[in-house]
Amino acid sequence: MAKWAIILGVCLLNIVVAVDKNNFKSCEQSSFCRRLRKYQPGESTYHLDFSALHITDNVVEAQLINTQVPEVNLKLTLTAIIGNIFRVSVDEVNGLHSRYKPQFALNGDPQETKLEVVARNLEQVTVSSGDSKVVLTAKPLKIEFYTKDKLVNVVNSKGLFAFEHYRNKPAEGETDPQIQDDPGAWEENFKSHHDTKPRGPSAIAADFNFPNAERVYGLPEHGDSLSLKSTQQNNLDPYRLYNLDVFEYELDSTMAIYGAVPVVYAVSPQHSVGVFWHNAAETWVDIKNSKDTDIISSLVDFVNPSSKETFVDVRFMSESGVLDFFVLMGPTLKSAVKQYVSLTGVHGLPQLFTLAYHQSRWNYNDQDDVTTVVANFDIHNLPLDVMWLDIEYTEGKKYFTWDHIKFSNPDNMVSNLTSTGRKLVVIIDPHIKREGGYFLHEDALKHDFYVKNKDGSVYEGWCWPGSSSYLDFYNPSTVDYYKKLYSLDNFKGTSHDVWIWNDMNEPSVFNGPEITMPKDCVHYGGWEHRDVHNEYALAHTIGTYQGLRLRSPHKRPFILTRGHFAGSQRYTAMWTGDNDAKWSHLAVSFPMCLSEALGGISFCGADVGGFFNNPDTELLQRWYQAGIWLPFFRAHAHIDTKRREPYLFSDDIINRIRTALRLRYAHLPLWYTLFWEHETQGEPVLRPLLYHYPEKEVIDIDNTALIGNSVLVRPVSEPGVTSVEVYLPGGSNANWYDLSTFTLYHGGSYKLSVDLDTHVAFYRGGSIIPRKDRPRRSSTIMHRDPFTLYVALDNEKTASGTLYLDDYESYEYKNAKKYIYLLFNYSNNKLTSSLLDKTDYPTEEWIEKVVILGPPAGIKGAKLISKSLGTVDLETSYDKQMKYLTVRKPGVSVREPFSIELV
Ligand code: NOJ
Repeated sequence: MAKWAIILGVCLLNIVVAVDKNNFKSCEQSSFCRRLRKYQPGESTYHLDFSALHITDNVVEAQLINTQVPEVNLKLTLTAIIGNIFRVSVDEVNGLHSRYKPQFALNGDPQETKLEVVARNLEQVTVSSGDSKVVLTAKPLKIEFYTKDKLVNVVNSKGLFAFEHYRNKPAEGETDPQIQDDPGAWEENFKSHHDTKPRGPSAIAADFNFPNAERVYGLPEHGDSLSLKSTQQNNLDPYRLYNLDVFEYELDSTMAIYGAVPVVYAVSPQHSVGVFWHNAAETWVDIKNSKDTDIISSLVDFVNPSSKETFVDVRFMSESGVLDFFVLMGPTLKSAVKQYVSLTGVHGLPQLFTLAYHQSRWNYNDQDDVTTVVANFDIHNLPLDVMWLDIEYTEGKKYFTWDHIKFSNPDNMVSNLTSTGRKLVVIIDPHIKREGGYFLHEDALKHDFYVKNKDGSVYEGWCWPGSSSYLDFYNPSTVDYYKKLYSLDNFKGTSHDVWIWNDMNEPSVFNGPEITMPKDCVHYGGWEHRDVHNEYALAHTIGTYQGLRLRSPHKRPFILTRGHFAGSQRYTAMWTGDNDAKWSHLAVSFPMCLSEALGGISFCGADVGGFFNNPDTELLQRWYQAGIWLPFFRAHAHIDTKRREPYLFSDDIINRIRTALRLRYAHLPLWYTLFWEHETQGEPVLRPLLYHYPEKEVIDIDNTALIGNSVLVRPVSEPGVTSVEVYLPGGSNANWYDLSTFTLYHGGSYKLSVDLDTHVAFYRGGSIIPRKDRPRRSSTIMHRDPFTLYVALDNEKTASGTLYLDDYESYEYKNAKKYIYLLFNYSNNKLTSSLLDKTDYPTEEWIEKVVILGPPAGIKGAKLISKSLGTVDLETSYDKQMKYLTVRKPGVSVREPFSIELV
């Protein structure tokens, strides 16, 4: 039986097996990784030639020579980029072929800024920009980055820099110094039909040493901890970045899965610095961390613990493309992440409903099934915003069509849904069924929209529909055609409330090498798939995004993708793919989404309940309680799993899930405000503790996350436990209020008792959290609901927080500045609200209640002052047991500034 058929069979039968590593390459099996990893630290053969240095305002250019092949002319460019970033690029001058530069990762050309030449001679050139300095050393090549004279990053300190240029195959008997003694490298002598010249191995690599760093975060997507492991000391394969459809992916693993974001942050409580490796080809990243000490250094450490210097070494190795990286100078994790985001962009403010609860499974059987599920949510008072349809809604897996028996009247189904404020998401994959008469396939053949084989014929692979070809989203004509497919005229049965799920876009090819497209396939522009692979999914989602913008120009698009790359956040949300109904998969969803958030992709979630297999009811409940705290919140399940919509369970389980859902809905104003701040300030929505708390205790904590800077969650992801441990940062002066009981804790480590109802979540003392506490069926019905402000006081009895609102769906916030962005401040027993931006939105939303956690004693009432209401006496009440004060019915509109003084 063909390999694809076996895989398909396994998928459908849902036989429980772990990942089949035979399907995927190890470093040893990946020719360039094997070749490059063999290099030992030593003196680099690369030299800079400063005799012909070219320096302009923002750029230093020098010739780079590999002394082993001095005839090859490489050029190194160092550029200062606005915001404390440096860019280093190396490319070949007049090479046999041009090398691929990712086309879609960057959000426009990075803006250059001025470089000052501090010193220069034939050995060294020193330039500075702001507080940062770069020293380029010629022989051998070394690049040192300093923040205020503190060395933070050294490139090529180990001499592992490599740049294999395109060349002719050496004649029999001749050696090729660039591939050392690996003759197998030339087996990759790829040559496509339009090539007149050979290509040959063209890998690149560079090593980065981060003195004083303690850990390294980044490199999503892996089923792994936030803090990356030492691959070198632990005998692991390097972290691999190669978008792959990995069936039953394993955890604690450096194996590649669906997404690839080549950014790392070398962190310590004192200093953080990042590197963004701007390359879309298969990439492996080796890590060495001083924490994984060898025997000698652990002896030194034992004798004199304070003598130990920490460091992290990171080495990127890519199969092809230009060598191009950005150094994000930090100096904090927060500033380094913002620098990364300044290069690759943010997710625009999503529509409110996208932050609410999504109900999916593979598959809802037919249109009646969809209607019944929604009705059952309503009957059980379970809030729900979005229903999802997986591949079975189509006619024979032909995208942009409907199964005319099971979904005979999609218009009706969609309008039933939208009449209760609900929305629909349907799946569209990038593989196209090769079937005569299918308009999309025929158009694609006719207009040459498909990816090609190297001989120029159309590439054919196997996916859900059987024999398929793959749209080439690098071809502008393909994108132009594809985006129009989403119009309501073309995609009949959809409406402005139907949004899109892009799956299988790594791309997944069941019978392809490593379940993906062969590397010698050819894209528009002559680029080999090898060069562009990690960017394919991003190109796909750009096409979809353009389609939805064209179809519904007034609504902010919603797209969910599985494959992703640096920059994907500008177009789409992502989820962690086919997880398993296991506790370990619930737990890993937090480190995985934290890592994505640092990689710029805040809109991340995991299949609630687990995709494969059936969760027991404890796991399912815990998964809902955890899932409400990830930015994207969707339950999804494999076609062979038992139905598990929350209303199918016993009352106590329904009640717990309802409580969790309502908590999510109550916090929608917070999520929405955070996404606005993500768009406008580049802040991730989900944050690791180190982002706000530079404490050594937090550096390895990834089972706990911050939602913005005001909520801390530590989801219970262990079965059968009666207690869990949690670390609350900030020291003994910090206040943390349990979000359900309002019990006050201070910074420190705690062992907390838990039962099945417990949510381990806290409000930070010092923050004001806007909520909407009226239970509703969907977020759409909440648009005009009033707010409750939760004022969690710090030790000084102060607090502050923000609130953003608009029409929750259109672009008016951008085009017409129709929004309200408020700052709430509490000090001296007085809460004030002021506009942060001079904008307005004619909202009917108002303040219904203020809840003060840790209130002052002896409060008798409160006084509201606002322009339209004048001075109004308000009632307060104190809950002695839970120790909070409620200010009743301020009744003031959020449109006007106001103050409420406790008296
Ligand atoms: C793979 C996706 O990861 C999964 O969520 C989906 O249900 C199946 N493809 C079928 O479309």
